[in-house]
Amino acid sequence: MRRPQFIAEHARNARGLLGRLIAFIMARETWSQNLRVMDALRIEQADHILEVGCGHGRSLTELAARAPQGHIVGVDPSELMVEIAEQRTRPLIEAARVEVVHSGVESLPFPDGVFDKAQCVHVLYFWKDVETSLREIARVLKPGGRLGLLFRTNADSKAIASFPPEIYSFPALVDVSAALERAGMDIHLVEDGASQPALVLAMKR
Ligand SMILES: C[S@@+](CC[C@H](N)C(=O)[O-])C[C@H]1O[C@@H](n2cnc3c(N)ncnc32)[C@H](O)[C@@H]1O
Repeated sequence: MRRPQFIAEHARNARGLLGRLIAFIMARETWSQNLRVMDALRIEQADHILEVGCGHGRSLTELAARAPQGHIVGVDPSELMVEIAEQRTRPLIEAARVEVVHSGVESLPFPDGVFDKAQCVHVLYFWKDVETSLREIARVLKPGGRLGLLFRTNADSKAIASFPPEIYSFPALVDVSAALERAGMDIHLVEDGASQPALVLAMKR
């Protein structure tokens, strides 16, 4: 059954009490796929890591545990998600290990070439222009820095049937891979997305 549009809208921009409930459910629903990306990224002790569309912030804590001498930054354009992620990671924020920033992918408030790794899970459906957004992520990665990108593709018929097209755009894997290449990134790993979300690991040239 297709998820009603008013609920799907909270995945794109969570607000109010319903947004809070959806953030709680989302943190459980997406957890195994977030772990899949973190494993593929092979995080190192002192990595400086960006999570784009960090939502509820559950991965920020795990990223901080995997990079105990590193620094983790989550960005999200939903004020409610930023508030929830900050609540969840309060001790790590106070220890200056984690930061949560109110921002979309379109204009990341960071200088060029500062992050070792970037993670982005179930977010690109909401971007106005995938290639421009990937260029912006590539801009803030160091040369040799890696992006782990996870998303459902247009080959996933179950996802297409379940999520309203007014909110979710499911791209072709080949189009995202080509956009990554044009954004200055080489593809290192692709796990296909017909029956499970696709995982693409790309490295900045
Ligand atoms: C489906 S949730 C996924 C959250 C988290 N990454 C996870 O795996 O559970 C999508 C998130 O992307 C955020 N988002 C929506 N548009 C965005 C944009 N243009 N740039 C960055 N994040 C965006 C939403 O606010 C939301 O927190």
